[in-house]
Amino acid sequence: MSLLFEPFSIRQLQLKNRLVMAPMCTYEAANDGRVTDFHFTHYESRAIGGVGLIIQEATSVVPEGRISANDLGIWEDAQIEGLQKLTTSLKKYGTIPGIQLAHAGRKATVEGQIVAPSAIAFDEQSRVPHELSIDEIDEVVLHFKRAAERAIQAGFDVLEIHAAHGYLIHEFLSPLANKRQDAYGGSAENRYRLLGRIIDAIRDIWDGVLFVRVSADDYTEGGLVAEDYVPFAQWMKAQGVDLIDVSTGAVVHAKIDAFPLYQVPHAATVRQGGLPVGAVGLITTAEQAEHVLQQQQADVILIGRELLRDPYFAYHAAKQLGHTMKPAIPVYERAWQ
Ligand SMILES: Cc1cc2nc3c(=O)[nH]c(=O)nc-3n(C[C@H](O)[C@H](O)[C@H](O)COP(=O)(O)O)c2cc1C
Repeated sequence: MSLLFEPFSIRQLQLKNRLVMAPMCTYEAANDGRVTDFHFTHYESRAIGGVGLIIQEATSVVPEGRISANDLGIWEDAQIEGLQKLTTSLKKYGTIPGIQLAHAGRKATVEGQIVAPSAIAFDEQSRVPHELSIDEIDEVVLHFKRAAERAIQAGFDVLEIHAAHGYLIHEFLSPLANKRQDAYGGSAENRYRLLGRIIDAIRDIWDGVLFVRVSADDYTEGGLVAEDYVPFAQWMKAQGVDLIDVSTGAVVHAKIDAFPLYQVPHAATVRQGGLPVGAVGLITTAEQAEHVLQQQQADVILIGRELLRDPYFAYHAAKQLGHTMKPAIPVYERAWQ
């Protein structure tokens, strides 16, 4: 049997296969951050298509942390109801619902003040962010905790902290964006402190599955590389994180040579820290995904754009690997067997 279609157990959960829909912003929410009809069509079709886990797009823990005015949000209780309907539906179709909790930091484009570890703009087109005070950092931690509580109420089985792609938490981790001279800047321990506190705050209220998404390469002199994430992974393991979802880049503009599987070696390096990892990035075929798992470079495979092209990617991959997949509704068996 292929590894890709072998179930994956993590804490109390069992994913029916190792195919995960990567978090991808759709910018289809209204200004209130609430779920719309589009989100049902979009996520339900991938659930019916057979992926084991869907990680819902970056969902902002505060209004000012949105990448755009059309991001999904989880900063107030009124947003729970729509999310809860969505998780109920995804579970009905046999897919585990996960959510990515996010704060865009200096890359937020919504109106009002934007925030970051240091008052350095992302690029010349971006506004200069406000440098967060220690009290304001405490509030950020609390916002992630409150958002996690809402996500649990909404029925998500996997929470993923977005610490990648140059958004707020990655800005703290990377010396390219973090020039602080207090307890949150300088050494690796200090730059990790915000992420560490958010993990602890969520672990206080959640004994379910917790992922962290990281960017394990800044592709820039003076920035972070995959090896820097090995101790981070060890700390995350000690704090009860279950899996690290390994992406790269985007804290500063950089030239990235992207080719099939280009981020897989980063995942393999981070895996040395002792936690299971997810590999993502230009993995577009069943053979590639199976190869990564067979080589023990990762434990699950996240698929992004290929799932936008083909909601039935899991079904097609199963066919290619000779696995008979149980469809989400019985009548599909007449076509899938
Ligand atoms: C339209 C789109 C939106 C994305 N939004 C997010 C996001 O919300 N959170 C995140 O961590 N990554 C986001 N990403 C990155 C993807 O999760 C994934 O890492 C990336 O697309 C590489 O995988 P792929 O080659 O399979 O597409 C997005 C990518 C795309 C194409």
